[in-house]
Amino acid sequence: MTLTPVPRIPLPYALRYVVDPVGTFEAARRRYGPVFRMDFPGFPPEVFVTTAELAEQVYATDASGGRAGEIRRQFLEPLVGRHSLLTLDHAPWWRHRRLISPPLHGRAIARWRAEIAGIAAAEIARWPLNTPFALRDRMQDITLEVILRLVFGVRDTRRLDRLRGAVAELIDAAGAWSLLLMPPRPRDWLLAAPVPRRVPFLPTTRFARVREAVDELLYDEIARRRAAIDPDATDVLSLLLAARDEDGQGMSDQELRDELITLLVAGHETTATGLAWAFERLLRNRPVLDRLTAELAAGEDETYLDAVVKETLRSRPVVYDVPRLLDAPLRLGGHELEAGWMASPLIMLIHRDPEVFPEPGAFRPERFLGPDAARAGKAWMPFGGGRRYCVGAQLALMEMRVIIREVLAAVELSAVDPAPEKPRVRHVTLVPSKRTRVVARPVRSGRSRSAAPSRVV
Ligand code: HEM
Repeated sequence: MTLTPVPRIPLPYALRYVVDPVGTFEAARRRYGPVFRMDFPGFPPEVFVTTAELAEQVYATDASGGRAGEIRRQFLEPLVGRHSLLTLDHAPWWRHRRLISPPLHGRAIARWRAEIAGIAAAEIARWPLNTPFALRDRMQDITLEVILRLVFGVRDTRRLDRLRGAVAELIDAAGAWSLLLMPPRPRDWLLAAPVPRRVPFLPTTRFARVREAVDELLYDEIARRRAAIDPDATDVLSLLLAARDEDGQGMSDQELRDELITLLVAGHETTATGLAWAFERLLRNRPVLDRLTAELAAGEDETYLDAVVKETLRSRPVVYDVPRLLDAPLRLGGHELEAGWMASPLIMLIHRDPEVFPEPGAFRPERFLGPDAARAGKAWMPFGGGRRYCVGAQLALMEMRVIIREVLAAVELSAVDPAPEKPRVRHVTLVPSKRTRVVARPVRSGRSRSAAPSRVV
């Protein structure tokens, strides 16, 4: 086959993606075809692929030296540490993956269902009524609580309170643009050297302080739980404390700390954003919302709810691309990518391929029901693919189903502004531009929420 160079998008044009990610990349696909390249200063050339078939070829490199960890390391290592599923590659990554997958397997987490519903119901009962608020922030409270209680397994109310506050501050400090945009070398020096750590206005100073506070709480939790292993516990930390690799080795305290932070970082904002998008879409597609509400109230099974969740993550994928750093050259769609380049399945466009998803802009859960479901399912990849496929996907999907059900049973939501909220780039995710602004009212039929105190503001 004759190979042609990968078309390259001029940088000023490409940078528009920060303000209009979907529009910019769709225009690039129209102009350059399904494979195109962008070169960001300081990074290897990044080649985006925009069909499911090409994406599968990229995922296949996971087994033969496509590295996902190294790309994430320079941004994430200060937060997640050196022993994280997100940033490891090769044998150390595989060892961790085999230890962490079983506790997050569909069968293992099925036991958490009632507790997730309870956490959601308690949080929803505290939402303001008849006044606008950002739903994404409230969803984040729920998903954080799920991680703290079911992944970390913290039960004691006082320790839970301290960890909740410290973790929220850590996520805030780690997400500051002033820290994220700092080049890795000066950042790591500022984090390590004693004198700059006393300069109060540096973003590294605040980050280092709150990271220390969280670490202290986590190492204390790990020590307590190691000292009194509970054989009946189902939380991830308890199961990891008991897990052994092929050589009979368990995880060290530092490995456990790094993986707990990893599951927090990878699992709580993503799921909250997915939930925020679910309601952003449902409130602008009344017939879908009405059918879902009626089916759930009638006690139907979760087939339609599941299709709504899938269509949400199809039309508004939370993570928009999943890059791999290539160890070897890769032939792709008539082009050759060089070793050392990045190959990135661009999920946001793969999910808008009109060949697979006709009228991709329409919110239509029926795509995932009926005769077209198998084809749609093959091109549906909100959790990435290959061996690096999201380890928390089953948990995320279950959380979304359970929490949507709890919300619909408790309150009637309406959008503050009927115009759709645009996807905005936030780190590696796409979030609703107004964080899903809604107003909540008690359900008219007086189901569970009617018993909750009214707090009209
Ligand atoms: C709607 C919610 C979520 C979305 C959209 C999402 C999406 C993703 C994506 C796209 C990847 C990269 C996959 C790849 O490179 O091919 C990923 C990786 C990962 N996710 Fe999720 N995720 C979600 C929720 C969760 C949850 C709840 C957890 C755990 C509590 C989690 C833990 C992880 C971890 C640890 C990785 C790294 C896996 C590895 O490299 O081996 N995620 N996720």
